[in-house]
Amino acid sequence: MSIGDQAKALAQGLVQGAVAKVVALAPDSWVPGGRPDPLVHHRHGHVGKPISRIDGPLKVTGTAPFAAEFPVDRMAYAALAYSTIAKGHIVSLNTATAEQAPGVLLVMTHRNAPRLNPPPLFLTQAKAAGGDDVPVMQDDRICWNGQPIALILAETQEQADHVATLVQATYEPEEALTSFADARARGSSPSQFMGQVMHDAVGDADKAFAAAPYKVDAIYCTPRHNHNPIELHAVTLFWEGDTLRLHDAQQMVAHSAWTLAQVFGLEEEQVVITSPFVGGGFGSKSLWQHQILAAAASRMAGRPVRLTLSREGVYRVVGGRSLTEQRVALSAEADGRLTALIHSGVTAKTPHNGLPEPFILASRTLYGATNICLDVQHVELDMLSNTFMRAPGEAVGTFALEVAMDELAERLGMDPIELRLRNEPEKDPLSGLPFSGRHIAEAWRSGAERFGWKARNPVPRQRREGEWLIGMGCATGTYPYYRMPGGAARITLTEEGRASVDIAAHEMGMGTSTAHTQVLAERLSLPMESITFNYGDSTLPGLIMAGGSQQTAAIGASIIAAHRALVKELLKLAGNDSPLAGLDPEEVASRDAGLCKADEPGRFESYASILERAQQQSVSVTAEPPQPLETMHWSMHSHAAMFCEVRVNAVTGEPRINRFLGSFDCGRILNPKTAASQFRGGIIMGLGMALMEETQFDERKGRAMNPSLSEYHVPVHMDVPEIEVMWTDIPDPHTPMGARGIGEIGITGTAAAVANAIYNATGKRVRDLPITLDKLL
Ligand code: MOS
Repeated sequence: MSIGDQAKALAQGLVQGAVAKVVALAPDSWVPGGRPDPLVHHRHGHVGKPISRIDGPLKVTGTAPFAAEFPVDRMAYAALAYSTIAKGHIVSLNTATAEQAPGVLLVMTHRNAPRLNPPPLFLTQAKAAGGDDVPVMQDDRICWNGQPIALILAETQEQADHVATLVQATYEPEEALTSFADARARGSSPSQFMGQVMHDAVGDADKAFAAAPYKVDAIYCTPRHNHNPIELHAVTLFWEGDTLRLHDAQQMVAHSAWTLAQVFGLEEEQVVITSPFVGGGFGSKSLWQHQILAAAASRMAGRPVRLTLSREGVYRVVGGRSLTEQRVALSAEADGRLTALIHSGVTAKTPHNGLPEPFILASRTLYGATNICLDVQHVELDMLSNTFMRAPGEAVGTFALEVAMDELAERLGMDPIELRLRNEPEKDPLSGLPFSGRHIAEAWRSGAERFGWKARNPVPRQRREGEWLIGMGCATGTYPYYRMPGGAARITLTEEGRASVDIAAHEMGMGTSTAHTQVLAERLSLPMESITFNYGDSTLPGLIMAGGSQQTAAIGASIIAAHRALVKELLKLAGNDSPLAGLDPEEVASRDAGLCKADEPGRFESYASILERAQQQSVSVTAEPPQPLETMHWSMHSHAAMFCEVRVNAVTGEPRINRFLGSFDCGRILNPKTAASQFRGGIIMGLGMALMEETQFDERKGRAMNPSLSEYHVPVHMDVPEIEVMWTDIPDPHTPMGARGIGEIGITGTAAAVANAIYNATGKRVRDLPITLDKLL
């Protein structure tokens, strides 16, 4: 960072700090969420019902169109060739054979690619979506091993794939920094995450630690992880004059459209992205080089283009989670009260991206230690930019912290659940803010009972069935409530009593379209069948990312704002001849496809009647929710109590999960059916992190060496036992619908619960992931 940038960041920080202080002290009623959403207390409507996915039939009949399935006339198919060095220059590129191959339409390299602006990097501007800000095929420079060096366009996919292998490059390599240890030896830098410096201190943790009677102090390591959504990253696109239209696999359509417009020097309206169905994103489906390259090639060739990354391509072009080396040092009095919580360490990023894996996030709010010191340092390597991956920070941070808590419990001779409950803070340990809703003790109590925690023998290696050692472990999971600025929604109500909501949000398989159809149906008192939820289109209102587990809150708040505007408009249209005449929007509630006076339901008029009398076929309003100040006023977090039973083969060291239970406190659950699936999905990803996931990164070459699902292992059905999930279902009084997002929390705490169970089974404390059988022999 230059001095100017530092000064700007500092000034920005001061302004944010001042705003945060004012908002923290403001009366509740001034803050969004200060008055509970009326839906929080509705108990007889659509919200909370286990409704099956409204897009289920489309999916099981194979008629839900994904990005690589949109039919377009005269389609050309693209494939990429990738660099094999980490840093340096391309000296020669032999494309002659490729150009003459049958079916080839275009070989695009830095020599003939159109001039493009570098993509604005995610989080550096409100609408930026770039995974990195490396210029895309603009010169002979190589920044990572696997960077695209050529794009082949051909009449068929098979031709393109084959011809991509015919491109020959020679390089002049420069010395690349690809070893974490070498980089660390040169020193590390303090880290920032979403504008916050990743350093916190309360009291004097080192001093308290030194003086304490009980302590643990260890290093925990987590490896690189690659993104492996089942749907490969893919785009089908074409130019209509100067308008670029894309069907893309996206978790941020509006951000990506804006960012593409910057790259191609277009107006924002000249890029239109639709993304109606997405086969998993987990943080990876933003804007990477492949969409930019496909759009450039399409323009050059004058043909629509489809570019589907191969599985290897996803590993070369789309960033994953970076590695971490974390120290957790905990100290306690004999009663288990934490006197010091120290969580620090180092991660790696690149010079071209902005995400040092923020592994201390969970440690900021989980325990009321009297002295706290948290710190994230990073080094920069010449590698593919890392990015967001399910619960960035919490996923790997809770592994370190929650294994350390298990180690401390053993040192104290205390039940690990009891240790956690004894350190339950009254208010946020760092900010001092009150919690908006924190029922973790209830999650522990009900979870422990259901799981049969009492049966656990705290002494390791006591339970054996044949060759198998059996153990139980637990850990806390946690993820914050976020709501990012930029929400907006349009609601249209017709005289036939149908309503539609338009919002640039996403359905990546989570159940978003189902849950929010429920929400709008209930808010309007209409049947589900009368609601259409339109999403996944950058031309719709709102700048809403399906990430940070914030989409539910962002959509919810947008729908609340639009609904409020709609009620106001309807009252205006109702006029003086209506039973609703003279009522203020605040006095009105909805029932039976109409509006009534909240405390006098007999004063009622249906939407149809209001519109008919006003001689209007429909009414349409658009509105934006207030800025998300609630997170500066309350400490807003979800929690989970995770329980695992494992068996480890005493002969081979093979670990297997016997059973798993997640007991969640995430506010009100909007749809138990889709929520259970979200929770289980997160836990399964956590099981993968615990036992198998690891990018084999060649530190000499800076290259991912296992870029396929046969070599990079994720859990398959045989690895996943019955996973039970349960929840407190206690509404958060300060969030839309009383809900907090549930996308990411399932992965948090899971790897620690597995590691702790493995310790209980075997007496082996494994502190580096994944826990493969060689570490248990
Ligand atoms: Mo989020 S990092 O998109 O699971």
